[in-house]
Amino acid sequence: MKQIHLAAFMIAGNCAHSHALWRHPLGRIDFLEPEIYRTIGETLERGKFDLLFFADRLAISSSFGQSSDVGLRYGDQDATRMDPIPVLSLISAHTKSIGLGATRSTTYCQPYHIARTFATLDHLSRGRAAWNVVTSVNDSEAANFGLTSHLGHDERYDKAEEFLDVCFRLWDSWSAEALVLDKDTGHYADPTAIHAIDHSGDWFRVKGPLNIPRSPQGRPVIIQAGSSGRGRAFAARWAEVVFTVQPDRARLKSFYVDMKSRVKAAGRDPSQCLILPAVMPLSGTTEAEAIDKQRLHNELVHPLVGLSTLSSHANYDFAKHSLDEPLGEISTTGIQGLVESVLRISESQNLTLREIGKIYGQSVLTPQLVGTAKQVTDQMEAMVRDGCCDGFAISPAYLPGSFVEFVDHVVPELQGRGLFRQEFAGTTLREHLHLN
Ligand SMILES: Cc1cc2nc3c(=O)[nH]c(=O)nc-3n(C[C@H](O)[C@H](O)[C@H](O)COP(=O)(O)O)c2cc1C
Repeated sequence: MKQIHLAAFMIAGNCAHSHALWRHPLGRIDFLEPEIYRTIGETLERGKFDLLFFADRLAISSSFGQSSDVGLRYGDQDATRMDPIPVLSLISAHTKSIGLGATRSTTYCQPYHIARTFATLDHLSRGRAAWNVVTSVNDSEAANFGLTSHLGHDERYDKAEEFLDVCFRLWDSWSAEALVLDKDTGHYADPTAIHAIDHSGDWFRVKGPLNIPRSPQGRPVIIQAGSSGRGRAFAARWAEVVFTVQPDRARLKSFYVDMKSRVKAAGRDPSQCLILPAVMPLSGTTEAEAIDKQRLHNELVHPLVGLSTLSSHANYDFAKHSLDEPLGEISTTGIQGLVESVLRISESQNLTLREIGKIYGQSVLTPQLVGTAKQVTDQMEAMVRDGCCDGFAISPAYLPGSFVEFVDHVVPELQGRGLFRQEFAGTTLREHLHLN
């Protein structure tokens, strides 16, 4: 059977998908300090993870009740997010092999900035950079960048298409032989191998070339996580890794089949677009211990903190609704895929808004895999054998313990079954992921 790929999902702040992360008794709270990121990077590299990835957002959200009070009081997903790029630069200095993924927005950045940032990270990490391309989600972000409201859903993707086209041309603006560095002749670079791009489009005007020589991977690995129709079409064209949150196996399988066929229809080899769903392992030495762990973790989540994050993700104020009644029909403009899943689950289980908030805060609908290391591995193996995914994005319940337990107990199980690498075969992230 094929070998899987492993990414670690993180936010450089108090949460991940788990909103109990910062207050869990087994977790550390030094998420503003360098040591924890070093420890996590070294742990995941020891576990031969392909990639460590940081999600990001560009605002403290005031989507819930038109205020950031609840999100700040209880620590929602947007309460604190340090910039992933300096964090990854730090981790890069303490690791040699693990891929380093950062989120950057095509709605609120300029292509020249992004192309420079990732070319730099790729050089300094010797070919381990990845970019999670997002279109951003809410009005609170817009308000930090001179706008009163977030761009419309499809308009954001129009802008993102042009954004990527410009970045790719900037990364290609230096050929691999352009840097001469001949001390004897005094020739620094070959001007005929470095080209302006002279881009003039609907959203951007960029002359180029980039002021950084071609990086080891040529360009960062492109990650994407849109689940709407438009998001999937975008991913089919550009993404080499797709992160997704799918609450059940049937949904995941249909997402996988749909994405692979879209990649093929876009004229690409489906093996060049890896689908990695998020899962949150909660393992114990016995099944009962793992179930206790899950209960403790989930009890720590306040329903309002989940609703605050959901409001941010949906760009919709859920405080308008009664907490103790089911949610009716609503229309939102944020992350369409996640909102659609919330509405479906809430309808099928007849949940009140309070219950939705609790579930969302526990894991943002990321499935929790509970049991002994062997049982967790069984669940992962079953998903792979069922044709649901090419690997997983491991989402922690507490830090760094969740990753330490996974690396010490689940990774050896995966390796023993031939499902995961024993050693890194190459040095770049593209090599780990078998990407061209
Ligand atoms: C698993 C997952 C992770 C995501 N991570 C981020 C993120 O870190 N920052 C962000 O602005 N958007 C993030 N998004 C949002 C999407 O990447 C996307 O840009 C956008 O909201 C549109 O999604 P849609 O196509 O499902 O509507 C994430 C979405 C999913 C499903």
